[in-house]
Amino acid sequence: MPPDPASRHDRAASFEQGAAQYASTRPSYPDAAVDWLLPDGARTVLDLAAGTGKLTQRLVARGLDVVAVEPSEAMRAELARTTPGARALGGTAESIPLPDASVDAVLVAQAWHWFSPAAPPEIARVLRPGGRLGIVWNVRDSGTDWVARFTEIIHRGDALEPSYAEPVPGPRFTPPEHRTFAWADPIRPTTLRALAASRSYLLTLPTARREELLAEIDDLVATHPDLAGRPEVDLPYRAECWRADVLPGSA
Ligand SMILES: C[S@@+](CC[C@H](N)C(=O)[O-])C[C@H]1O[C@@H](n2cnc3c(N)ncnc32)[C@H](O)[C@@H]1O
Repeated sequence: MPPDPASRHDRAASFEQGAAQYASTRPSYPDAAVDWLLPDGARTVLDLAAGTGKLTQRLVARGLDVVAVEPSEAMRAELARTTPGARALGGTAESIPLPDASVDAVLVAQAWHWFSPAAPPEIARVLRPGGRLGIVWNVRDSGTDWVARFTEIIHRGDALEPSYAEPVPGPRFTPPEHRTFAWADPIRPTTLRALAASRSYLLTLPTARREELLAEIDDLVATHPDLAGRPEVDLPYRAECWRADVLPGSA
């Protein structure tokens, strides 16, 4: 059966197809956001739904003891290749292959929306007392005309609600605190095609429809005055971050 772009399950599983593309095009996360997400004195950190290791690399660079849990074999293989300093394990947010009270922080980048309600209690289980759940999404800032047009094309016909929304980790955590960090990723305009193609919506579309949308991206890159002929442009993002601490005695 072909994947259904309106199915949350098929969309979550689609990353298996796009690992190399994902690694080469998706943005990383700003250091200021990672600083804010991590609790003071954190040593052992779980990057949950780590993908190809975009955030994992930032955590390893800080000298932390990093475990990366990711269900997709292809994404995990890419992570192991690019981020040998982390321990990469197969697993999901609903079944984390770690002992109780074993990490100081669980960070979730661009993935909380794929988790089921079984995830928060499982995250609480692996956190040490006083440990922190940190959640981040990079959201394109569509205040710029070409970014707004790019965003319209890649979401056209998408029946699933936007991924980014205030997370609700539930009764085992303190109410989440929110902060936004504005930043920009310098990219070659031609990268926009691969960035679009790495998204779960395009990965699950029938080939002909996907190619139509990608052709529109090519056209945007070739004709928009702020993109055409430019070697590099800044793609503006807001890193939308939430943090919540696990409550005592809730394991
Ligand atoms: C958009 S990618 C984000 C990857 C990485 N965190 C990053 O920031 O680049 C979403 C990831 O969530 C993973 N995922 C989907 N459902 C999951 C679940 N229930 N538990 C853990 N990971 C899941 C996918 O395999 C994919 O690697």
